[in-house]
Amino acid sequence: MAVSVALRGVSRRYPKLVALDGVELEVPAGEVVMLTGPSGAGKSTVLHVTGGMDKPDEGYVEIDGRKLVPRDLDGHRRRIGFVFQRFHLLPALTALDNVLAPVLPRRVDFDRRARGVELLEAVGLGQRADALPSQLSGGQQQRIAIARALVNRPGLLLADEPTGNLDSVIGREIIDLLMSLRERYGMTMLIATHDAEVASNGDRVVRLQDGRVTSDQRLTPSVDVLDRLGGLRP
Ligand SMILES: Nc1ncnc2c1ncn2[C@@H]1O[C@H](COP(=O)(O)OP(=O)(O)O)[C@@H](O)[C@H]1O
Ligand SMILES: [Mg+2]
Repeated sequence: MAVSVALRGVSRRYPKLVALDGVELEVPAGEVVMLTGPSGAGKSTVLHVTGGMDKPDEGYVEIDGRKLVPRDLDGHRRRIGFVFQRFHLLPALTALDNVLAPVLPRRVDFDRRARGVELLEAVGLGQRADALPSQLSGGQQQRIAIARALVNRPGLLLADEPTGNLDSVIGREIIDLLMSLRERYGMTMLIATHDAEVASNGDRVVRLQDGRVTSDQRLTPSVDVLDRLGGLRP
């Protein structure tokens, strides 16, 4: 189920520069936020800190109103999905095995194969379960990577320039797919992009510059997001 996310005064500093400088951001459950801004603005760092892959030097992250603390990080990472610009599929594994890769080494309370097949169908690649990444187009590889990100039924999906390696038509299809998966599975999403056309598909566009939020623009009324989420709740 979709989770709410908040960054409270998050700073991340490197010896010679400040990647994030007191970022405040509240994202209600089910909302799709597009993070924009020039290269080096801090978009990826926001995603890494939110996903528990990087630690703030100051401030903290809240998930469903609870502060994320170090002992929760492993569980937290398992409850989020991450999609990258370069699809990072394992070349020797089939599409289905790539989707299942995150859960292969672990005991899980669901039927792995059934879950993988369902997700391949959800991303429109139900017929390509046995294909190797090299036999798939870039857009198809990104679909596989998205299916993999959903294998643990995350309440939060983080995507870092998910269309950055794709042409604009295929990129558009990937964004449409993400938006439809948000509805189907009930997820909050943070999507970093420097493409204004991609960003216009979100509920909200948050612009970063030099590690600070410089604008925060709502594109859909928040009540719409709540409605959609209401429809997803049992
Ligand atoms: N491991 C690191 N060491 C030093 N500086 C880093 C590191 N990671 C990121 N940065 C710097 O932090 C700033 C923000 O980076 P990033 O979040 O990747 O921006 P964006 O994703 O918007 O391009 C950049 O100036 C980048 O060079
Ligand atoms: Mg980046």
